[in-house]
Amino acid sequence: MRSLLYLSWVKSVAMNEIQSFGTELYFEQYEFNVQHQLCNSDCETVSVAELCQMADIPVAAIGDLHLGYTEAPGNPDLRAALASAYATAQADDLMILGTPIEGIYLTARTLLASGDEVIVLSPAYDALINMFAHVVGADNVARWRLTSTEGNWSLDLNALEALITAKTKLVVVNFPHNPTGYLPSPEWQAEFISILRKHDLYLFQDEMYFGLNHQGTPSMASAADVYEKSIVLSGLSKTYGLPGLRSGWLVVQDKALYQTLKNWKFYTSICPPAPTEFLAQVAWQVRDQLKQRNLEIIEMNKRLARDFCQRWPDLFTWHNPVAGSTALVDVHVPSVTAYADQLVREAGVLILPTTSLDYGDGAMRVGLGRKAFGAALAELEQYLKRHS
Ligand SMILES: Cc1ncc(COP(=O)(O)O)c(C=O)c1O
Repeated sequence: MRSLLYLSWVKSVAMNEIQSFGTELYFEQYEFNVQHQLCNSDCETVSVAELCQMADIPVAAIGDLHLGYTEAPGNPDLRAALASAYATAQADDLMILGTPIEGIYLTARTLLASGDEVIVLSPAYDALINMFAHVVGADNVARWRLTSTEGNWSLDLNALEALITAKTKLVVVNFPHNPTGYLPSPEWQAEFISILRKHDLYLFQDEMYFGLNHQGTPSMASAADVYEKSIVLSGLSKTYGLPGLRSGWLVVQDKALYQTLKNWKFYTSICPPAPTEFLAQVAWQVRDQLKQRNLEIIEMNKRLARDFCQRWPDLFTWHNPVAGSTALVDVHVPSVTAYADQLVREAGVLILPTTSLDYGDGAMRVGLGRKAFGAALAELEQYLKRHS
């Protein structure tokens, strides 16, 4: 049995196989044709004109932009502006990407070889498991599982220690977390970093939802500011509601690693798109406004979703998110995948089953960052009332 597994692993590595990207395949199928969406992880967006107006820049300014190649690590002014958000990271530690998700691929390629072991948070956005499994082999990926007690998420540091072996090279986390909305405390973070330091491990921290702290949730420092062996992924897609801009960056303080990453990036995007860098600079000027508006939407939708789950306790169980724009909800049906299909066909409502997020078929992710969430939830409730 073991040797059969080994053979299938060798085959998958040899053939460069990678798991299906379940979440993106699902959205490709439904995002642009189902009317009521309850599961998007991004926040409310704006038009180019609205963005320029917020920053008091004429829209016509983009017309002067030259469309030549850009600097490979990213525009120096943009890097300096973004670096100001970090306490210790400098502009030279930032690498602007072609797209945020590219940062996951580049990190896996740069840091790992087959046979290395990786510890990944679970549940997780697919790429944060599958991309690393692709490089090191699925058997070398250990899951560090979030658990929920009385509706509140936690992540056990003793469980992390138990997963570390002599071959472990990297720990992969995502804070604030998609899909649970979990964010650890600063005290937890200090202990976490001391464990990583003790075992001399690299940390890949996905901070795509950085700054989306719900009311009363203490802030946690960027890993870039507290751990020298961290690689941090950030971007404008989620917190700032600009996923169509495809603006993302890595923070890498290890200079040798930075150079190797850049070499990989020459094979994937060479340099960032000029219009994206231009608009990212505009967006960064009004980042507080964009984030604040999205936080207000999230707080409102969170109340709506929690109350909705309480009205339908036989069908839904709410787990409280404390940060980010998503939450995980248990759904008491035999298969959430089948239920989601039924809701698309009969109610025109889109939910995301958590199967693609490494969480089985008993839950769904809800996305709290969009204005239309309340209307979609009302539509689902009408449907439930008609069928109860
Ligand atoms: C945790 C996480 N990381 C990375 C990404 C990729 O971001 P983008 O779609 O902007 O490339 C996503 C998108 O859903 C995400 O949820």
